[in-house]
Amino acid sequence: MSSNESVAPAPMLHHVTFKTTRMQEMIDWYGTVVGIKVNFQNPVGAWMSNDRANHRIALLAVPGLVDDPEKYRRTGMHHTAFEFENFDALMANYARLRDLGIRPAFCLDHGLTLSIYYNDPDENVVELQVDNFGDWERSAEWMRTSPQFSANPIGVFFDPDRVLEAHRAGAPFRDLQRRTYAGEFLPEPLPSLRIGDG
Ligand SMILES: [Fe+2]
Repeated sequence: MSSNESVAPAPMLHHVTFKTTRMQEMIDWYGTVVGIKVNFQNPVGAWMSNDRANHRIALLAVPGLVDDPEKYRRTGMHHTAFEFENFDALMANYARLRDLGIRPAFCLDHGLTLSIYYNDPDENVVELQVDNFGDWERSAEWMRTSPQFSANPIGVFFDPDRVLEAHRAGAPFRDLQRRTYAGEFLPEPLPSLRIGDG
């Protein structure tokens, strides 16, 4: 084998497929929350996308599936994530969903992203995020080298209503993010991360 052949390729992550017992509810929820539309559906499945890909989220709803009451204790996927272009878009979507009665499970400033997490109808966790640097290279470099990230990779909880209020009062994102990461907008009580027992 030549050295070229030993280099692993880097195919792009393309889609996630969930098993579900409530397909239509899931279709409606992803449509409302992240604008996903169905490209193909039949009685036992749906393939949906909110961009040029033929599908980004797929659902399999074959007979015999059961919900897992201990979902958060099981190994496997913790969450999927969607990224917004900028903080304004993330918070506008937060406010839009709040008006529809869709509330997040918890919100975290990870240092590298500001992230709002929801539960879908199957209680899969879905993260909506914005990159705090607006630049994946700088963001990745910060992750690799920052002592703050190393000391606390999970980040700092925030109360989205108070952050939205400060944003609407004119606080620029850079300033707001610094304050969020410093814990100025901690929710009371602190929420669960939907993992294990906590
Ligand atoms: Fe994430």
